[in-house]
Amino acid sequence: MKALVTGGAGFIGSNVVQLLLERGAEVTVLDNLSTGYRSNVPTDYVRFIEGDILDRQRLEQAASGAEVIYHLAASVGNLRSIRDPVADSMVNVIGTIYVLEAARAVGARKVVYSSSAAIFGELKHLPIREDHPIEPDSPYGASKLAGEKHCLAYYKIHGLQTVCLRYFNVYGIHQRYDAYGNVIPIFTTLLLKRERLSIYGDGEQTRDFINVRDVARANVLAGESETVNGAFNLGSGNSITINTLVRLLEEASGLKADYVYAPRRPGEVLHSLADIRAIGDALGFRPEVEMGEGLRDYVAWMRTEMNLP
Ligand SMILES: NC(=O)c1ccc[n+]([C@@H]2O[C@H](COP(=O)([O-])OP(=O)(O)OC[C@H]3O[C@@H](n4cnc5c(N)ncnc54)[C@H](O)[C@@H]3O)[C@@H](O)[C@H]2O)c1
Repeated sequence: MKALVTGGAGFIGSNVVQLLLERGAEVTVLDNLSTGYRSNVPTDYVRFIEGDILDRQRLEQAASGAEVIYHLAASVGNLRSIRDPVADSMVNVIGTIYVLEAARAVGARKVVYSSSAAIFGELKHLPIREDHPIEPDSPYGASKLAGEKHCLAYYKIHGLQTVCLRYFNVYGIHQRYDAYGNVIPIFTTLLLKRERLSIYGDGEQTRDFINVRDVARANVLAGESETVNGAFNLGSGNSITINTLVRLLEEASGLKADYVYAPRRPGEVLHSLADIRAIGDALGFRPEVEMGEGLRDYVAWMRTEMNLP
């Protein structure tokens, strides 16, 4: 099977690439390396094309021969989108339409699109099913939603199969510390550097964390399916508090965390939890990576990445 992975040098994309290779697929990666790393991709086994999804010629060249396109390239994050909403939509909306057009042009069978729980905006009730109100409250949420709607329309109009996976909080190997507030890489980095962590509020807010290996497997199942189309929530179906997360990180690292409680951030979501029955029914997907195990792998990877003993 030939596959194109856009954004394949990024955190989640590189894990999708790894799993596709393990399944014997021939993989092309198209990535402009704006936030991705070439070192994330085993270039001996992958056709790596450095380029932008907004370069339509490059994109079509990368897509040629692909049966499935895993579309992960995106401008990622609420803060980034608030700073530059035009760039956000250029990549996430127009870029996605270019990917769908390229899929048609090369006769690809399916596009698997990385959507986001950011499309829901303020959460009204838990657990979050697919029919939860959709009212994004950032340009990023709006652009990911537009991408999703274009995918679903291409299925209706052109019969191009599309599956949209709405990720909740993804964590795991290849996720680096960034300025965009992902709590697991930030806490792990600070813990390993023996620096103090700030827990906002009382730490009893909850999140649904899903390991990137499970997310990669959901992508591959979606790509392999011959009949499934539509948009699905993708979390672990379990949530933990931030206080519990700190305890699990202590166990995973063998270190004692130094932390303080800081004022709650305005607008922060208090609780989040995905209902994952729909993706289970449609694709037979069940999360397999237990959080303690996922964090142990992650801490070990971060230690190597940070050159720590
Ligand atoms: N990390 C999460 O928790 C999360 C949650 C919800 C949704 N998502 C979605 O998952 C996908 C992957 O996110 P990630 O966390 O791996 O982020 P990432 O920034 O690590 O990966 C994005 C990749 O796309 C590449 N890219 C960006 N713009 C591009 C362009 N114009 N042309 C070609 N390549 C481009 C980047 O270089 C990077 O390698 C995104 O679509 C994102 O919206 C992620």
